[in-house]
Amino acid sequence: MSKKNVFVTRVIPDAGLTLLREHFDVHVWPHDRPPNAQELVDNARGKDALVTLLTEKVDAALLAAAPTVRIVANVAVGFDNFDVAAATQAGVVLTNTPGVLDDTTADLAFALLMATARRIPEGDRLMRSGSWGGWGIMQLLGHDVHHAKLGIVGFGRIGRGVARRAAGFGMQVSYHDAIRAGADVERELGVSYVPFDQLLAESDFISLHVPLLPETRHLMDAKAFAKMKRSAILINTSRGPVIDEAALVTALREGTIAGAGLDVYEHEPKLAPGLVALDNVVLLPHIGSASITTRSKMAEIAARNVIAFFAGETPPTALNPEVLAAARR
Ligand code: GLV
Repeated sequence: MSKKNVFVTRVIPDAGLTLLREHFDVHVWPHDRPPNAQELVDNARGKDALVTLLTEKVDAALLAAAPTVRIVANVAVGFDNFDVAAATQAGVVLTNTPGVLDDTTADLAFALLMATARRIPEGDRLMRSGSWGGWGIMQLLGHDVHHAKLGIVGFGRIGRGVARRAAGFGMQVSYHDAIRAGADVERELGVSYVPFDQLLAESDFISLHVPLLPETRHLMDAKAFAKMKRSAILINTSRGPVIDEAALVTALREGTIAGAGLDVYEHEPKLAPGLVALDNVVLLPHIGSASITTRSKMAEIAARNVIAFFAGETPPTALNPEVLAAARR
């Protein structure tokens, strides 16, 4: 039997590529940028599987243009780049990489919180500028992290990881989520559930950990910023469109809130006009899961999903396993 053809939309860690190459004919997009929509279609045509990143839109148009594709494996936990309904309709299995990046992303969220609170990038810029005149009692005064109030929005695996880290800093942690955690979880993590508006009003830091859904798009907008403390800092390592980025620029400029630490953006890789000019924002290039170990695990999970699928098994982290059940009926 001839080998299946797999298109991988970027060079991914060896752990995934080596596994894929053991089983399939593998074609890797060689450029250090995502393929555009046409390039994606051109490369997907005639393939049996795609391994994609969150930068690739997998929608009805792509699947119709590449009808041989039976499975698309995202090397990411978030899958807002997938049209799940369209794939299910087309009988295409989708997979993601849950579970392996929670602690790595929680680390990054906490690092961003600390960097923003204590103005670490500003300090670094000052030192590199050669203009530091020595210790100053009024220099780069920031916000205390220890014992401050942290509000976590979205209390899944990553949000809970942030709560665990916050406990070590003696922070008072509250959370809001569409689904309330069990009393045992709340007790173990020492957190309390609060209504969203209360979280906005009371928190010194707010960290976002929700998936991008119609109901979370622009969850943080001008109205939400107006309810926050003027001294509050907003951290986002989830998805950019959860924040109305233009409204955030206004809020940061006008002092409606004190600062923001962002790893994700509404229109990646573009930033809202005015954002880079602000000193009270710390900007990272979407690196939440970017540790060597975690990215390798993510690539491996994607590869194992594709291998399982063509071995006639259910891919371990299938998003729409009902497609397989329907095919087996
Ligand atoms: C990264 O943002 C991911 O969803 O894995």
